[in-house]
Amino acid sequence: MIGQFNDRVVERMEDISNQHISVMPREVIAGLNIKKDGIYADGTLGLGGHSKLIASQLDEKGRLICVDKDLNSLERAKENLKDHLNKCVFINEDFRNMDKVFEKLKIHELDGILLDLGISSFQLNNPERGFSLRMQGPLDMRMDQSNQISAYDLINSLSEKELSQIFKDYGEERWHQRIAKGVVQNRSRKPIETTDELTEIILQSLPYKKAKDRIHPATRTFQALRIAVNRELEALEVALDNGIKALKMGGRFVIISFHSLEDRIVKHRFKKLAKVGTVKLIVKKPLRPSEDEIRNNPRSRSARLRIVERV
Ligand SMILES: C[S@@+](CC[C@H](N)C(=O)[O-])C[C@H]1O[C@@H](n2cnc3c(N)ncnc32)[C@H](O)[C@@H]1O
Repeated sequence: MIGQFNDRVVERMEDISNQHISVMPREVIAGLNIKKDGIYADGTLGLGGHSKLIASQLDEKGRLICVDKDLNSLERAKENLKDHLNKCVFINEDFRNMDKVFEKLKIHELDGILLDLGISSFQLNNPERGFSLRMQGPLDMRMDQSNQISAYDLINSLSEKELSQIFKDYGEERWHQRIAKGVVQNRSRKPIETTDELTEIILQSLPYKKAKDRIHPATRTFQALRIAVNRELEALEVALDNGIKALKMGGRFVIISFHSLEDRIVKHRFKKLAKVGTVKLIVKKPLRPSEDEIRNNPRSRSARLRIVERV
C-alpha cells in the first residue's frame, strides 16, 4: 500500500509546511488511494502539507477542496499550494459544514476525505493564539478567530461545576475539581487573562509539587479548554456523518486523531458503519507513526490513523 507513494515528495514536506511537519504523510496518501482525476477534500488544511501531497498526485481533471476554519492558516496554505491552484478550491469553514460546502460547489460525490485533527504547530507556536502553556499569551485558543467565545470567556464566566466537568470530560484530568476550585477562587480577585496565569493556578491547585509523568501537569486542562472553546468533539461527530454521506462507492475516509477522546469517537463510528455494511475497515487497528517519524517529529507520537472505504 505504501509502496505506491513517491518518496521525493515526502522529503520536501518540511519546506512546504514551514513550521508544521505533516504527520504520517505516506500513510495518508496511500490510505486515500488517490485517483488522478478524483475529487478529494482536506477538511483540516492547516498550512497545506498533506494537501500539497494530494494535489501533486492529481492531474488537471482532479480537484481538491481545502477547508480550514482558521483564515490565517488558509492564507498561508494558498502560498504553499501556489503550484497547484488550478486544482484547489479554498474554503474558510468549519469541517462540520462540509455538506454545505460540497452542495455550494455542486459536488455530489467524493473519492476521499482527510481529517488531520487538532491544531498545527503554526498555531501552537504563536503565543498570541494562546494555545500553548509553555508560552505567555492571552487566553484565546480559538481556531476560528471570528468566533465570539474564547478560553478567557469560559475560564472567567463558567461555574465551578461546569469548569470541573470540562476538565474531566475533555481532559480526563483526575484533579478536575481542585483545578476548577482554584480557577474560581483566583478569578474572584481579578479576571484570569493569560496562559501563564492559568498554568500557575493549575500548578497551585494540584496536590503534588513535581510532575509525575512526562507531560506537563497543565496539559490536560489546556487540552480540555481548547476542545471546549472549539467544540471539537461535536464538530467531529457531525463531520463523520456528513463525510460518509458525501463519499462515492469506493471512496476513502482517512482520519488522524491525537488523543483518546477523538480516536474513540472515530473508532466506534467506523465500527458501527462497518457492521451495517456502509463501509469496509481498511485497517482493523489504527496505524501509528514509525519510530523514525517520531524521532524526527515528536509531535506525531500520539497520532492514530484510521481508514474506511465506502461500500
Ligand atoms: C493538525 S492541523 C492540519 C495540518 C495539515 N494536515 C498539514 O499537513 O499541514 C489541523 C488544522 O485543522 C484546522 N481545524 C481543526 N478543527 C477544524 C474544524 N472543525 N473545521 C475546520 N478546520 C479545523 C485547524 O485550524 C488546523 O489548521
